[in-house]
Amino acid sequence: MKKVLLCLLAMVLLFSCAKKTAEKEEPLLVLRYGDNQPDYYPTTRAARYFSQLVEEKSGGRIEIEVYGDGRLGSENDVFRMVEYGGVDFMRISIGTLSAFYPEFQILQLPYLFSSSEHMWNVLDGDVGEYFLSILDGDSIGLSWFDAGARSIYTIEKIDTLSDLQGKIIRTQENDKMEEIFSLLGASTIQIPYGSVYSELMKKTIDGAENNFPSYMYTGHSDVARFVFLDEHMRLPEIMMMSRKAMEEIAEIDEGLLDVIKEAAIEAGRFERELWREEEEKAKRDALSSGCIVTYPSYEEIERWKDAVSPIYSDLSSENKAIVDKIRALDK
Ligand code: GCU
Repeated sequence: MKKVLLCLLAMVLLFSCAKKTAEKEEPLLVLRYGDNQPDYYPTTRAARYFSQLVEEKSGGRIEIEVYGDGRLGSENDVFRMVEYGGVDFMRISIGTLSAFYPEFQILQLPYLFSSSEHMWNVLDGDVGEYFLSILDGDSIGLSWFDAGARSIYTIEKIDTLSDLQGKIIRTQENDKMEEIFSLLGASTIQIPYGSVYSELMKKTIDGAENNFPSYMYTGHSDVARFVFLDEHMRLPEIMMMSRKAMEEIAEIDEGLLDVIKEAAIEAGRFERELWREEEEKAKRDALSSGCIVTYPSYEEIERWKDAVSPIYSDLSSENKAIVDKIRALDK
């Protein structure tokens, strides 16, 4: 009898403990985060870190599920979903964002930033805050991510600007990008990131342009074996949240919005560290796998800068003032 009673007591205890754990673990809100990069890419790793921070700092009230590898759709599609509230968070390249918010075109001007330090000097200060604050409509800008410098890579080797003439180069889906590459003499075609590999394989394009981790992670490096290190632009990225998610979070507790913002900034810093390591590693891997990296001379880069200079002369006076501010931060 005593044994039966003890057994019953143990079962009651076990049941109430399980209930408590279940209660504690049940989030009040489950949100979705999209990234078009693979799961082990620096940005998706930082997204998971963000999710972990939010879970901890919200006491388990908010859960963020991270979907990498474009599982929620292409970058353009996910952006549209974020804008109407179908997806709650995403990490977006300025090259994609500026097609929707032309104010961001300034940040994709060629040779705007002289180095990574220069870019972070800008993004960590007032100018960075100003750009994040532009995203205050259907989506909200939270923090900056690094995406290094972009260079051209091709199936056939190019050594100079004259070799680029007439080559078909894939650009991101925005007209400014196309204008830049047209000034460089390339023929351009706008294709989603996820389709570049197959277009390279079919040789419908001669090459594309991106940073080293993207070049390696996507397998583009298996087909386009030649990198011309022109570093024509540094294109930062933004973690953003839909207004709908912001309102749902505020309904639980307004204070949680600070938790989200702080976690996004912390995840951005984490990504920046990962990026530094990953960019170097991707470059080393490219070289060790037999890709040929061409380092152009100073004079050659000056020719590239001259070719794209009309884009600066055509700026509005307002945009010129922002560019001057950015250039003044190059210390
Ligand atoms: C980078 C960026 C992606 C973007 C891609 C592109 O890899 O991280 O978000 O989609 O460039 O060239 O489209």
